[in-house]
Amino acid sequence: MKAQTPKESLTVLTDLVLPGETNYLDNLFGGELLARMDRACSIAARRHSRRIVVTASVNHVAFTKSVPVGSVVTLEAKVSRAFKSSMEIYVDVWIEDRQSGEKTKVNEGIYTFVAVDETGKPVPVPPIEPETELEKKRYDAALRRKQLSLVLAGKLDPKEANELKALFLG
Ligand SMILES: CC(C)(COP(=O)(O)OP(=O)(O)OC[C@H]1O[C@@H](n2cnc3c(N)ncnc32)[C@H](O)[C@@H]1OP(=O)(O)O)[C@@H](O)C(=O)NCCC(=O)NCCS
Repeated sequence: MKAQTPKESLTVLTDLVLPGETNYLDNLFGGELLARMDRACSIAARRHSRRIVVTASVNHVAFTKSVPVGSVVTLEAKVSRAFKSSMEIYVDVWIEDRQSGEKTKVNEGIYTFVAVDETGKPVPVPPIEPETELEKKRYDAALRRKQLSLVLAGKLDPKEANELKALFLG
């Protein structure tokens, strides 16, 4: 399979925060943001693999800053690393100032998606070649995050983590 670049999977979703999507402090409800992040990551994973994709895990989410009602929120998701059938997707979340248009990063998340066939069986995905410094940094750290995610899910014995590392690093 031909290698792809992270930018080929880039997915940008821009939307408003409406009153029905907020908490008691009139800030975006965390679960609503998670759903939007999941959607953006899902499209990025689909663009990379051109297959049906399912969420395997949410590896990390940082709700660094609140997102007030009325905000224009932009999510940018890109595949950061592809393994055999799984892909790590990074999603960065920004809001923009109404008057200046200046963007502030409010949140980020790291998701794992798996490409599957029509019966739900995992299938191979194309490799990925990072281009920018940030993409290379995220690519390099993705294996450790995958190991941690599998250990936390009870699918990998911590002692086996090094064997997985050897498999992907050669
Ligand atoms: C995700 C799913 C397809 C994995 O199937 P499986 O039978 O466990 O298959 P495998 O063990 O071969 O794992 C497939 C890949 O997923 C990866 N994976 C599975 N669970 C993972 C986790 N928690 N974290 C990171 N990677 C994970 C495996 O490492 C493997 O990666 P690789 O092929 O790139 O090496 C399966 O568990 C599933 O369908 N889950 C439900 C998905 C879903 O419905 N999501 C929406 C929730 S509402």
